[in-house]
Amino acid sequence: MARRAAAGLLRRLGPLAGELQARGMSPTHYGTTNHGFSRFYLLQVAHIQRNPAYSVLNSDDVSYFKIVLGESSVVQDEDRVAVANVDWMGKYKGSSQLLLLPKSTTEVSKILSYCNSRRLAVVPQGGNTGLVGGSVPVHDEVIISLGGMNNIISFDNVNGILTCEAGCVLENLSSFVENKGFIMPLDLGAKGSCHIGGNISTNAGGLRFIRYGSLHGNVLGLEVVLADGTVLDMLTTLRKDNTGYDLKHLFIGSEGSLGVVTKAAILTPAKLPSTNVAFLSCNDYMSCQKLLLAAKRNLGEIVSAFEFMDRHCIDLAMKYLEGVQNPLPASPYSFYVLIETTGSDESYDKAKLEAFLLRSMEDGLVADGVIAQDISQASNFWRVREGISEASVKVGAVYKYDLSIPVEKLYDIVEEIRSRVGGMGEVLGYGHLGDGNLHLNIVSNKYSDKILAQIEPFVYEWTSNQRGSISAEHGLGLMKAEKIHYSKSSEAVQLMGSIKNPYCSWKRSYGAELIEPSLWLVPIQRRL
Ligand code: FAD
Ligand code: MLT
Ligand code: ZN
Repeated sequence: MARRAAAGLLRRLGPLAGELQARGMSPTHYGTTNHGFSRFYLLQVAHIQRNPAYSVLNSDDVSYFKIVLGESSVVQDEDRVAVANVDWMGKYKGSSQLLLLPKSTTEVSKILSYCNSRRLAVVPQGGNTGLVGGSVPVHDEVIISLGGMNNIISFDNVNGILTCEAGCVLENLSSFVENKGFIMPLDLGAKGSCHIGGNISTNAGGLRFIRYGSLHGNVLGLEVVLADGTVLDMLTTLRKDNTGYDLKHLFIGSEGSLGVVTKAAILTPAKLPSTNVAFLSCNDYMSCQKLLLAAKRNLGEIVSAFEFMDRHCIDLAMKYLEGVQNPLPASPYSFYVLIETTGSDESYDKAKLEAFLLRSMEDGLVADGVIAQDISQASNFWRVREGISEASVKVGAVYKYDLSIPVEKLYDIVEEIRSRVGGMGEVLGYGHLGDGNLHLNIVSNKYSDKILAQIEPFVYEWTSNQRGSISAEHGLGLMKAEKIHYSKSSEAVQLMGSIKNPYCSWKRSYGAELIEPSLWLVPIQRRL
């Protein structure tokens, strides 16, 4: 059986135009907000009371912002504000009346300083592609969009260091550095809309994490504006700097709860000339695991992505994504794996991948497979994988979980949830297997408490029992702010609270009546 499949694979082996990056060739543009869907899921916010300590916006505030930013950067137009009030999934909806579009760090600083003194709540917004409800207001917070701060400041050609403003769209940065012979260390399906500032604030993982690691390693420096308007200049481009605490790490992944990221310096790896993409099928999850181990051992230095998806994902992608073809249409399999290799030697890399796949088929790990012969096939493979989230929201309602779990246990939760949900919804398991990151999506026609009750708190308890994380890469946002204790100890949460607002602990210690300096109303604050 394996030999027959191996023969089939060999026929389809072929080179991929090495000098082109497959994913970069097929940019996926997602609109800022997915307004095709009007099914706001307000159940989660219903219990969150607006904090009366925050002021209500008035006409004097608006006049002040117009003086500081200019008329065109102070948006009250209902349609434009409505777009910024809703998240990409059409699931979380705020009721802000005001969208501000600063063009410089000084303007961000003036906005925050003013909001702080007036006790106006704010929410920073990047490309609004976040999947946990953190990018939109919960109530009437002023939305500060970084979209107007989209300049590339400099590029160091020798060291591959990009310095840019926070509102630059990831895909634009990718094109820019690729022209210089480098690539961005991160890539994700939302690249056409998400901002680098949003990526940093969520510590986005994505498709290249397995090769280039976390933004904690790739961000060299940041400029951040604190809640009271103080500009914190940490915009170094040094690789090594051990002078005191490396404060930038507090802002990477803190979802706007500590400050607004305004500029970043990022280390970009050299663009390598040879890329190959394989799309494979496996009969069971154990084979996917063994394949991952084999890829680490045998493809080691050239693996640049190892993604997996179950049959339900492929079925959904084929049903809802226009113009996408099933790379392995002959028969359905239980699991699919996408492996990308990137290296510096075209013939060596290709031969290495082919040999690996043949051996994996002979060992029975791979049931069938195909290697992209050209850029358009490679783009199609990636479109299947990257399009799963887009296909999911088209069903109607999506309950989205993003878990870090030891690889050997990772698919158990999908099966558990599938049996709990039964016929009420379709359960999808996919994600960044190479990073131990499962995306568990439950899709159905409409949101229902009955389905939710089958998923939560079970999914969080189960993950916690495995010492996993309830947010591998999407963040906590509004969805999971109050679930933080499933992944962090109470001592850790308390320390986070004192970092966020040191005045609270001073107040407790000294009984002093200090004014709280931070007026963030991003969801994480409620927990801390
Ligand atoms: P937003 O959604 O606007 O904001 C996200 C959070 O960051 C909010 O809490 C917001 O307040 C805060 N924020 C934004 N900008 C700033 C700033 N300048 N300063 C301070 N705080 C700020 N995520 C992954 O990790 N991996 C993936 O593979 C991935 N794939 C995706 C695919 C699709 C199709 C979609 C729709 C989303 C995907 N995401 C993924 C989630 C999302 O794209 C990322 O979280 C992304 O980093 C968010 O960037 P953004 O600019 O859209 O930020
Ligand atoms: C992905 O890997 O596709 C993303 O994180 C988006 C999602 O999970 O929907
Ligand atoms: Zn992901």
